[in-house]
Amino acid sequence: MSQVTIESVLQEERVFEPPAELAAGARIGSMAAYRELVARVEADPDAFWGEQAREQLHWFEPFHTVLDWSNPPFARWFEGGTTNLAYNCLDRHLDGPRAEKTALIWEGEPGDSRRFSYRELHAEVCKAANALKALGIRKGDLVALYMPMVPEATIAMLACARIGAPHSVVFGGFSAEALRDRLIDGGVKAVITADGGFRKDKAVALKPAVDQALADGGCPTVEHVLVVRRTEQPTAMEEGRDRWWHELVDGQSADCPAEPMASEDRLFVLYTSGSTGKPKGVVHTTAGYNLWVHLTFQWIFDLREDDIHWCTADVGWITGHSYIVYGPLSNGATTVMYEGAPRPSKPGAFWEVIEKHKVTLFYTAPTAIRAFMKSGREVPDHYDMSTLRILGTVGEPINPEAWMWYREVIGHDRCPIIDTWWQTETGGVMISPLPGATPTKPGSATLPLPGIAADVVDSEGRSVGVDEGGYLAVRRPWPGMMRNVHGDPERFRKSYWEHITGADGRPLYFAGDGARRDADGYYWVMGRVDDVISVSGHRLGSMEIESALVSHPAVAEAAVVGRPDDLKGEGIVAFVTLQVGLSGDEALGAELRRHVGTEIGPIARPDEIRFSGALPKTRSGKIMRRILRALAAGEEVSGDTSTLEDRSVLDALRV
Ligand code: PRX
Repeated sequence: MSQVTIESVLQEERVFEPPAELAAGARIGSMAAYRELVARVEADPDAFWGEQAREQLHWFEPFHTVLDWSNPPFARWFEGGTTNLAYNCLDRHLDGPRAEKTALIWEGEPGDSRRFSYRELHAEVCKAANALKALGIRKGDLVALYMPMVPEATIAMLACARIGAPHSVVFGGFSAEALRDRLIDGGVKAVITADGGFRKDKAVALKPAVDQALADGGCPTVEHVLVVRRTEQPTAMEEGRDRWWHELVDGQSADCPAEPMASEDRLFVLYTSGSTGKPKGVVHTTAGYNLWVHLTFQWIFDLREDDIHWCTADVGWITGHSYIVYGPLSNGATTVMYEGAPRPSKPGAFWEVIEKHKVTLFYTAPTAIRAFMKSGREVPDHYDMSTLRILGTVGEPINPEAWMWYREVIGHDRCPIIDTWWQTETGGVMISPLPGATPTKPGSATLPLPGIAADVVDSEGRSVGVDEGGYLAVRRPWPGMMRNVHGDPERFRKSYWEHITGADGRPLYFAGDGARRDADGYYWVMGRVDDVISVSGHRLGSMEIESALVSHPAVAEAAVVGRPDDLKGEGIVAFVTLQVGLSGDEALGAELRRHVGTEIGPIARPDEIRFSGALPKTRSGKIMRRILRALAAGEEVSGDTSTLEDRSVLDALRV
């Protein structure tokens, strides 16, 4: 854990009140109402969560215990109950007028689009669920998805949830190697993929990466591959293993009862990078996750029946899981899914989607906003975005300039900006303004949601003072918290629950972020305090990239750090020592970048490779990343360097 320092405590004085009209009709319409709700939860958290779970979800069997925290960090929520996430997202909306309401609007990259009512989506999910059963997939079997942003990705996730087969969605931008690691770690039984997807005006093949991951018996547990036809590229199919989605799914019955799942049955595994080792499979379970995404979606977007919600994330990340698929559908809302991205040929792509589908709630990442700023306000000014009500951001700290631009240029000063802090591990949003209640400050995620016992603490678990930096932590379990690291409970304990212990001897949840709290109690998240690099809001572990680099025959040793980047938040700089006798040049640098792209995926490619004769190490052999970070950022190396083993290394790296 590195030390939290505040180099420049930003003095942000601007405060924006919620629009009066929005506050007037809001679910939580004032700070008094927010505080009252917080007080109600604090008085008896179990009673509150129990009441919410009973009211907001459908149960086949009621639960008897709200929370069992007798064996921390292994929480058990809503024990005794059985429910089903797909039932909550679909079946329960079919009784009334919502049955014909649009559940999913899908916009394809080349301009094709599809819509599904709740009734239609239910039928498609049942057919896909029956297809999985026909392949022999049973409750408890892990199914991987490696998909482009097509409706079948959402349908497949819900089909898995319906039959109780946990899914493991692997972002379609990851390489075959990264996919293989995740398939092996999970013990995956079937993979759902597509021939390809459209990215930036091009058809990009996906299926060959699956073939490569499975080649030479590399993933012995995988028995089936189900392939969606999207791009119609020529696609090799392996007899006995591969089936086309349209051939298997379309003919199935549209009737498939939802499997009653115990509250703590596994719902999905989603891999995320940590500071050590390979990515961890974050495990979420059925009822707690469902309740958390359901409630947070209502709260942070002040949901109304006629809202059209669009979250621009990919379903391969937690944001897509929670706020494209499960949160909106559990609430019976209309959710938009977009296959494309802004690109030189279509810089207004996002704004076109908002205009065309009359989007009211928009949720995107700071890195996207910064890219829009660069292309100027003329682009969005071209479009009618007057339907927008609330603008959300997620994934990384948002700089006040980008926040103000978002508010003024996209929201025309009418829409509250909701800066939401959370993580794959937290399941759903934890710290965020409530649009009808919370006055906002540019760059602050403001206050914890009701029931979230967040704090900023020192390494002894003591709350730090106003504007002092500390570790962002959570003192009490919440329904959407991750339950485990797949196959590695020790790693779960070590990564999240052993860093900080409270005065009462209870472990605190350690988020890995640094933060400060201002005099109003507002949270300002400052970024990671571990060796995780956030590139365009995507988490990458330095060690993962280092392992990829040293797997190249020319590399003896590598150290990877982040450096500030105006657009991406952080860029990747790799310091590389080559095998004896080799010397680095531009061509080798390019080759190493390509190599990392093949091992992990294009997002992990270093922006810069610096060859050096040696790396700065302590006497005990630990690489001094602090020094490398300063060098990568072009800063003077300050602080104590007395533990450095060989000071001449530093001089060599400077030039
Ligand atoms: O560092 C924080 C940053 O993203 C990390 C979580 O990444 P991931 O699990 O990939 O989930 C991203 C989407 C939820 C956090 O530890 N982060 C996320 N949201 C914010 C943020 N940093 C500052 N402000 C935010 N609003």
